[in-house]
Amino acid sequence: MPPGGLTCTLQRRNEGGMTHASSPSARPLRVARATAPLTGAIRVPGDKSISHRALMFASLARGETHISGLLEGEDVLCTAAAMRALGAQAVRESEGCWRVSGPGIGQLREPDTVLDMGNSGTAARLLSGILASHGMTSVMTGDASLRRRPMKRVMDPLAQTGATFLAREGGRLPMAIRGLADPHPLDYRLPVASAQVKSAVLLAGLNAAGQTRVEEPVATRDHTENMLRHFGATVTVTPTAQGGRVIVLEGRPDLVARDIVVPGDPSSAAFPIVAALLVPGSDIVIAGVGLNPLRTGLFTTLIEMGAQLEIGAERLEGGEPVGDLHIRASALHGVTVPAERAPSMIDEYPVLAVAAAHATGVSRFCGVEELRVKESDRLAATVALLEANGVRTGVEGDDLVVYGTGNAVPGGGLVRTHMDHRLAMSASVLGLVAQKPVEIDDTAFIDTSFPGYLDLMNALGAGFVA
Ligand code: S3P
Repeated sequence: MPPGGLTCTLQRRNEGGMTHASSPSARPLRVARATAPLTGAIRVPGDKSISHRALMFASLARGETHISGLLEGEDVLCTAAAMRALGAQAVRESEGCWRVSGPGIGQLREPDTVLDMGNSGTAARLLSGILASHGMTSVMTGDASLRRRPMKRVMDPLAQTGATFLAREGGRLPMAIRGLADPHPLDYRLPVASAQVKSAVLLAGLNAAGQTRVEEPVATRDHTENMLRHFGATVTVTPTAQGGRVIVLEGRPDLVARDIVVPGDPSSAAFPIVAALLVPGSDIVIAGVGLNPLRTGLFTTLIEMGAQLEIGAERLEGGEPVGDLHIRASALHGVTVPAERAPSMIDEYPVLAVAAAHATGVSRFCGVEELRVKESDRLAATVALLEANGVRTGVEGDDLVVYGTGNAVPGGGLVRTHMDHRLAMSASVLGLVAQKPVEIDDTAFIDTSFPGYLDLMNALGAGFVA
């Protein structure tokens, strides 16, 4: 692979709404029950949230940032392409190792073409904060999945900086942004627990004179706050009496390039973890997984369900906690997951639902309404995934209920993944323990967050035949 030779390639399946098994770029998969335990030691790709932020913040800092462990999934490559279009240098030196420098805060150049953020809501929302706080006009789009997702949640606060937005009906992409070189600093209380919205407001605050203040009702992942501090910004975080947080950023900081080591993504580790818990006799190790406490709700939940999941060798790498996970097959029982835990495991519910389908007893995931606005309507799609494979579910208000089969998932169903990488991987895990093979309409979108997933799982013994 030549340096800089990875590009954002999502455009190839960007048109035409939904992919389906018969579309030319779809990669269907049939997963049969595992015949042997999963064993071995692996690492998972770099954290997606941290990778996006590393490319963006390095482009806004003075000097050259060296990033190692960068996720080279398609979502992150779209961010790299966008930062280049805005005047940054982002050069791939070897696998996961990138050298990034940029014009700095307030100095980005107007892109002369449309910014295509592919499948990535994180890239689109965070970049909106940067674009709104630069005196230029830009246009952003994405693939059919991203063009269905709500952008109003960032447009509303960012418009208060003085920037103007023009989007499609319902605040959908494509969207044009007219930013300001001297934006007003924001004081904003998030109506939804969203790290993306929080980060968009903070990113806009980088080029605003004075203090930007964001209040979140529940603490969400704090990679933006951590990385801004790492680059030299002054960010204070104060817990509120109601269990939320107030974050204050001093505007126009002198961000200085600092090396970044991206930990393994706990949201990607979730798939081999649940697979190893469910396939009888399995025993695996996953090294170097990020353990930021605002990301580990799945681990807490699985342990409550009876999982043999041990965390060892805990250490700090690049300002984030990291550890090695040892997972052994376990008999799981149902669990109730409180709504307050949702932000710390928001991307893990589909695969947790697979674990709950295999467990003994009923599980209830409370307050999971945000699943409706992910890469797909993940609440509906997770229900469909399970029901197609003989698992009873229910949606009660904003709660998802899964009736565990106690180790006898029937399988035999066709899973529609709706351009959603995490649904495809969740369905593959279900297939490993289902009595009849599970068909997945398209696994191509797995490349957005976990390139090499099928091969890595096969190295553990999964036996996926692509
Ligand atoms: C992310 C925040 C979450 C998560 C997404 C990544 C981030 O989205 O689902 O995959 O990097 O900030 P919300 O902010 O919409 O909850």
